[in-house]
Amino acid sequence: MKIIAEPRIDTISMPENVRIGLMLREQRGSCSLRGCNEEFFGFAFGQSPFPIPKIISDALAAHAAKGHYSDATGIPEVREAISGFYHRHFGIDTDADRVIVGNGSKELMFLIFSMISGSVILPSPSWIGYSPQLRFLGKPHHLLPTRSENDYKIDPTDLEALLTTLTDGQHILLLNNPNNPTGAVYSRDELMRIAEVCRTNGALVLADEIYALTTYDIETFVSMGTLYPEGTFVTGGLSKDRSAAGYRFGACILPSESSDKIYSDFAKTAATLYTNITTPVQYAAITAYSPDPAIDRYLKETRDIHRMMGGYFSRVFSSVEGISTTKPHGAFYFLADLNELKLLLEKKGIVSSNNLQKALLAHPWHVATVTGDAIMMPENNFSARIAFVDYDGSQAMKLYEKSRPRTYEECNHFVETAAPRMVQGVGTVKRFIESL
Ligand SMILES: Cc1ncc(COP(=O)(O)O)c(C=O)c1O
Repeated sequence: MKIIAEPRIDTISMPENVRIGLMLREQRGSCSLRGCNEEFFGFAFGQSPFPIPKIISDALAAHAAKGHYSDATGIPEVREAISGFYHRHFGIDTDADRVIVGNGSKELMFLIFSMISGSVILPSPSWIGYSPQLRFLGKPHHLLPTRSENDYKIDPTDLEALLTTLTDGQHILLLNNPNNPTGAVYSRDELMRIAEVCRTNGALVLADEIYALTTYDIETFVSMGTLYPEGTFVTGGLSKDRSAAGYRFGACILPSESSDKIYSDFAKTAATLYTNITTPVQYAAITAYSPDPAIDRYLKETRDIHRMMGGYFSRVFSSVEGISTTKPHGAFYFLADLNELKLLLEKKGIVSSNNLQKALLAHPWHVATVTGDAIMMPENNFSARIAFVDYDGSQAMKLYEKSRPRTYEECNHFVETAAPRMVQGVGTVKRFIESL
């Protein structure tokens, strides 16, 4: 019997993180050559290396017996805790009635794309998660190229120029801050100029702020929800700064000018798709969003470790001849630009950035990165996203608490002790380039 899938399934492929996981497994299986090191230098995965704060996992265990169905947009107590959290950390004034929870922020974006009319403006480069959802939904979208000399940030003049050419109704700008894949963080001024363009052109913003609390200099983070509250959907969750990606808990603050109908549209869509998100996780999330000195300490320590790792690895990568990188100010990524090596790469038959990804992964290099279409960049742009989270986060936190690195030398020593395999990985990339 031939079972036929809906044709729209062919418009999407396996998400990049899962695809790379499968590729690595395959590579490990086939790598039986002498001297083949079965381990990989993992610069590809964007997962927090740290353990979940114990107070949060204890709260999940304590609520394991809560097996009942619950509200589609979230139990009132967690929505209340989230509104307090957004006020405390980011100065967003929202009552619980504008908060919606979902199975990770990814699902909330899917809900927004499904429900809000119009086309989406996607900056290039960006996180791979957005475009497959748009293709799946058949939702129109427009690429907004950015420039390396501008740290790949959205240029308000380019945005304005694009908006004035579009005639397809309402528009939703995707603004990811701090940014995956570049690690860039927008200043208040930059955000204000983008907000102004959106306001005058009647465009909405989906502010993906999942990495907000990883901003190394946390005082510099400004939420778009404070500058353009009437038109911004702010999304975030527990996956990155509180390291609970598998809990699949995300939150969205609706624009302040959303009507009651928009809220009830969200509620009915969520209820139609999945009834409610896991009830015990919602109870654990009350703890995760409530004020607690242990969580504050955890956030401070882990972002300081990300800062040291980002500073060190962007510096050593850009010291390799032919590579320049962005300097991360938040999240756990930077973008490495290898375009200077284009001719040398092409001579070796590496004619696209996806070829580059495969070449780096092959024996004897075993270096996993994310390139090309997986970061929404043209195939002929030889850039790669480098994630710097391949180390034992528990050990790193212990070492951090013991040594409290402060000076440049102490920070370098900390990174080299806590993440020796990533240090070795950079050496391998250097040898790969020397071999061209
Ligand atoms: C930029 C960005 N947005 C959203 C997500 C998804 O996060 P969540 O686990 O909340 O679905 C990720 C995860 O990698 C991400 O990098």
